[in-house]
Amino acid sequence: MLVRRLHTVNYLLAKVIPNDLKGRKKSSQEWLTRQLNDPYVEKAKMMNYRCRSAFKLLEIDQKYNLIKPGFTVIDCGAAPGSWSQIAVKQSNADGASPGKPKGMVIGIDLLQIYPIEYAITLGNMDFTKQELQDKIHSLLGERRIDCVLSDMAPNATGVRALDHENIITLCYSVLRFALLMSTPNASLLMKVWDNGEVPVLEKNIQRYYQHVRRIKPRASRSDSAENFILGRGFVGIKR
Ligand SMILES: C[S@@+](CC[C@H](N)C(=O)[O-])C[C@H]1O[C@@H](n2cnc3c(N)ncnc32)[C@H](O)[C@@H]1O
Repeated sequence: MLVRRLHTVNYLLAKVIPNDLKGRKKSSQEWLTRQLNDPYVEKAKMMNYRCRSAFKLLEIDQKYNLIKPGFTVIDCGAAPGSWSQIAVKQSNADGASPGKPKGMVIGIDLLQIYPIEYAITLGNMDFTKQELQDKIHSLLGERRIDCVLSDMAPNATGVRALDHENIITLCYSVLRFALLMSTPNASLLMKVWDNGEVPVLEKNIQRYYQHVRRIKPRASRSDSAENFILGRGFVGIKR
């Protein structure tokens, strides 16, 4: 009996090797194998999140209470949409908690975003462009932003230095936007790829946010250079 149970456990723990790998590139074979063996991929499907990234934001939000009912949240690099799904719930943009203030969520991506209930989605848009930021400004009206999220990542070129430069450029674009549009005490969460420029970026964020820390959520793959910088307690800027 015990032996049979052990066999079953071993079977369940065995690495799943997809059977339709023929003709695919090595990187695509590795990606497929990793997806099939990733518990967060399965969990995301079960919980109706659009991708596994959901668990990175959930972990950070649970620990730091980042998004509260009534918050205005901007989600940069929102496709396919799991962070915006979470932001809608946590900010009560869906009005699911009638006694609590209703939030607002705007998600932006270079890619098309399949509509997300109760969120405003701006697909096929480049966050770094001034026209797009002006559009967000007009959608906000009198509202100021309580939380800026960025899970944006540029397409990797394979040239490390160039990839690092590209993500840092995105981060500074997010920081500049957050400084101009956030309400005092707001938060900022942005993805970075660990590289020599990150400490300087962190120092710059520290000039405007009271608490700044670097986070590697459990759902972030250990072999990836991905980290998140969280800034809380925006002190405002002199205009
Ligand atoms: C890791 S995915 C985001 C996943 C998302 N947080 C979710 O939970 O569904 C990164 C996204 O950043 C987007 N992105 C990269 N550069 C961008 C830019 N300049 N403007 C808008 N989106 C951008 C990519 O198109 C990609 O969809």
